[in-house]
Amino acid sequence: MTGIGLEFQDVSRSFGAVRALSGVSFSVASGDAHAVVGENGAGKSTLLKILAGIVRPDRGAIRLDGAVLDSASPREALEHGIGMVYQEMLAFPNLTVSGNIFAGREMTRSFGRLDEPAMRARTRELLERLHVPATPDTPMELLSTAHAQLIQVARALAFECRVLVLDEPTTSLTDAEVDHLFTVVTALRRTGVTVLFVSHRLPEVYRLCDRITVLRDGRYVDTFERATTSADDIVRAMVGREPPARSARAVPAAVGTPALTVRGLSRADVFHDVSFEVARGEVLGIFGLVGSGRTELLESLFGLEPLSAGSIMTNGRPMTATSAAEAVSAGLALVPEERQRQGLCFNLPIRDNLVLPTAATSGTQVIRRGAEQLAAQAQSDALAIRTPNLDVTPDALSGGNQQKIVIGKWLATKPSVLLLDEPTKGVDVGAKFEIHNLIRREADRGMACVMVSSDLPEVLALADRVLVMREGHVRGIVPGAGATEEQVMQLATHEVAAS
Ligand SMILES: Nc1ncnc2c1ncn2[C@@H]1O[C@H](COP(=O)(O)OP(=O)(O)OP(=O)(O)O)[C@@H](O)[C@H]1O
Ligand SMILES: [Mg+2]
Repeated sequence: MTGIGLEFQDVSRSFGAVRALSGVSFSVASGDAHAVVGENGAGKSTLLKILAGIVRPDRGAIRLDGAVLDSASPREALEHGIGMVYQEMLAFPNLTVSGNIFAGREMTRSFGRLDEPAMRARTRELLERLHVPATPDTPMELLSTAHAQLIQVARALAFECRVLVLDEPTTSLTDAEVDHLFTVVTALRRTGVTVLFVSHRLPEVYRLCDRITVLRDGRYVDTFERATTSADDIVRAMVGREPPARSARAVPAAVGTPALTVRGLSRADVFHDVSFEVARGEVLGIFGLVGSGRTELLESLFGLEPLSAGSIMTNGRPMTATSAAEAVSAGLALVPEERQRQGLCFNLPIRDNLVLPTAATSGTQVIRRGAEQLAAQAQSDALAIRTPNLDVTPDALSGGNQQKIVIGKWLATKPSVLLLDEPTKGVDVGAKFEIHNLIRREADRGMACVMVSSDLPEVLALADRVLVMREGHVRGIVPGAGATEEQVMQLATHEVAAS
């Protein structure tokens, strides 16, 4: 049975001079799974935040089954039947699972006393329904990202939500975790819950959603039927022009002293006996499933986590990798995966964020207004960072644009070896293309690059060679050109019969 569902009517919101949303109108049929897509900064998160009571609109209205929704807080939105799942949010990390599900709306007995047994029982039911291996008393901080997200779904269910909103929920999940989340969401749909889903991964959009609404520059473009629309049509509507062609592969790497030589590297219980070399001008892709040790390997190379065995040389000189400072002076730079937490200074303007590492390595105490500011502007232009100006702080930018800043600031240090962890996670097709070109350009100028990515097409398009890890061991190094997805996936997932 389908009712009127959700209607966005002329929804507008500006932040200072930035029009995040202007006059957005469309509707979502009740019980539908509906995707909202668009480039970084298109206004997707702002729209969902208005729905979830986090941001107030300047103009316009949202109706649910005909009634105007006007939520002044996430709690109020939840009471109106809108449940939101954030990508990486622990509501109350020091509370238990049950505490998180019922926070702000505890079940009570007479005299307002908390009804712990009832909440525990309900929590147990929900955990079972969502297949989360936890108990009501498990501290929230012990859960994985995937399970923490499912607790947010559980919270929405405990409040009997009619609309479930998911903003880029899959970026940190393994394939199996994505499958699980989608199974849960599909089951919810069958009970009549309407789903709004934001993702940059079009295959996931196609898997989950029947209709796809495209936003561009804060405006509504169109709503497409999955059945009759190709992914290329969607991309065209998103960028307003022909989609960028896949960048061509670079010529195989040059000879000479390797920029990075790694021998027998081990970190107890994480990775074992890892050896490889990266030449100047070469892009080495590291592929592996979550848990294969790839992120940990980059962290250890950058001196953030101790090694138990092995040796590292950069440009022919040995290094101990015992601190990030040593790594930087040896010519390394790391663009971390969790850029929000590790990569940005949220109390400094973008201008300073872009030049911070350069200022640090050139020994400048105070960031000079002048040459460095020009550099910041140039970097911002090169990366097409969408921002009103460079004086705002990073929290004013959309997720994908924050990512570009982190990459930009490390590229500006002109490292001889750039370590990148999931460089295009959460980044739109256009920005992805720009980031690939930047990496390629710096590689052509002699920089060596080690890139961890779970985006297999990206790895194959960009890497000269692909190192495949599984369970902390190197399972093979294959040339990027000519390697197939199947081949790499096979190495990453199971033992291949010896040949
Ligand atoms: N709190 C804020 N202050 C100032 N500007 C903001 C704020 N939140 C969002 N914006 C701006 O509004 C625009 C839309 O941002 P929004 O986060 O909705 O984009 P998005 O479509 O979710 O992008 P992404 O795919 O990168 O997550 C951007 O230009 C962003 O810089
Ligand atoms: Mg967003």
